[in-house]
Amino acid sequence: MIPLDLTGKVALVTGVGDNESFAWFIAKALQAAGARIILASHPRMVSIVQSFITREQDAESRKLPFGKGEFHPEKIVACDASFDTVADIDEATKNDRRYNKFPEYTIQGTIDNIGKEFGGIDILVHSIAFSREITKKMVETSRAAYLQALGISAYSLTSMVRAATPYMMNRPGGASVIGLTYIGGERVIPHYGGGMSTAKAALQIDAQQLAQNVGKHNIRVNLISAGPYPSRAARAINPDFDKLVAYTAEHSPIPRAITPEEVANASIFLCSPLASGITGQILYVDCGHNIMGI
Ligand SMILES: NC(=O)c1ccc[n+]([C@@H]2O[C@H](COP(=O)([O-])OP(=O)(O)OC[C@H]3O[C@@H](n4cnc5c(N)ncnc54)[C@H](O)[C@@H]3O)[C@@H](O)[C@H]2O)c1
Repeated sequence: MIPLDLTGKVALVTGVGDNESFAWFIAKALQAAGARIILASHPRMVSIVQSFITREQDAESRKLPFGKGEFHPEKIVACDASFDTVADIDEATKNDRRYNKFPEYTIQGTIDNIGKEFGGIDILVHSIAFSREITKKMVETSRAAYLQALGISAYSLTSMVRAATPYMMNRPGGASVIGLTYIGGERVIPHYGGGMSTAKAALQIDAQQLAQNVGKHNIRVNLISAGPYPSRAARAINPDFDKLVAYTAEHSPIPRAITPEEVANASIFLCSPLASGITGQILYVDCGHNIMGI
């Protein structure tokens, strides 16, 4: 049998905002491969995600790939990737009812709770990005928005790996961290501003540094560089997003857009024993677009 079997593996998946998020498809593929799924979503998204998990009208989107049944995360918790520990939480957030209904929502606290409750963590998925000035060009981006984009979209990976290392170290068969990046961190995509291009560039070297730092604990860290995909959030941010998808498809060796299922399939491969010797890599799931010169 080909060993793409994640039976019993504990997978903590961040970045599910709705049933179109890359993380939604990744979590479903991980469950189809046998993993136990815990979702850690932004505090403001938790009830929305809960409704996608339960609403009859969303049943179709809960179907697992490979005919493996229905998506049932074992737990959905809150995690705001802006906060490493409680010491980072500002007064306004502490008093915000959308936050203070949760006993915990920092990276350290959330990962400690999950690591202890599930007796360890085998798989960690980082699928988080945010810039409040994403629609602005780089030259118009403010310092505050730039630093926030870097903190949430890039530094949070380092924070998560640090918090998760005690729970991921020396797991049977090793543990795997997956993050999501985009070619806009390496080449100029004109509308990928607001600090997001910088955040992806940072994320890419950070993932390699982290792979070196935690490799001795048999924890692997890899990124998937996905082609453009019109998630709800991407469409909402950029009304011309479909044009970017169409342009990329037209100029790719495989001349079509990628699907979120293809990103999910690459994720389960990277988390599986089949990828046991792979760390610090960027796997392009972009129909080959990154190799093109024009
Ligand atoms: N959609 C694309 O074209 C594309 C292409 C390549 C890479 N990516 C990357 O894939 C990942 C997922 O993006 P997506 O397209 O699925 O969109 P998405 O909006 O569904 O996912 C982004 C998630 O980040 C979460 N988030 C934002 N700020 C947060 C915070 N402070 N704390 C916790 N969570 C926070 C949002 O709630 C959301 O769930 C991102 O890293 C994105 O940059 C997307």
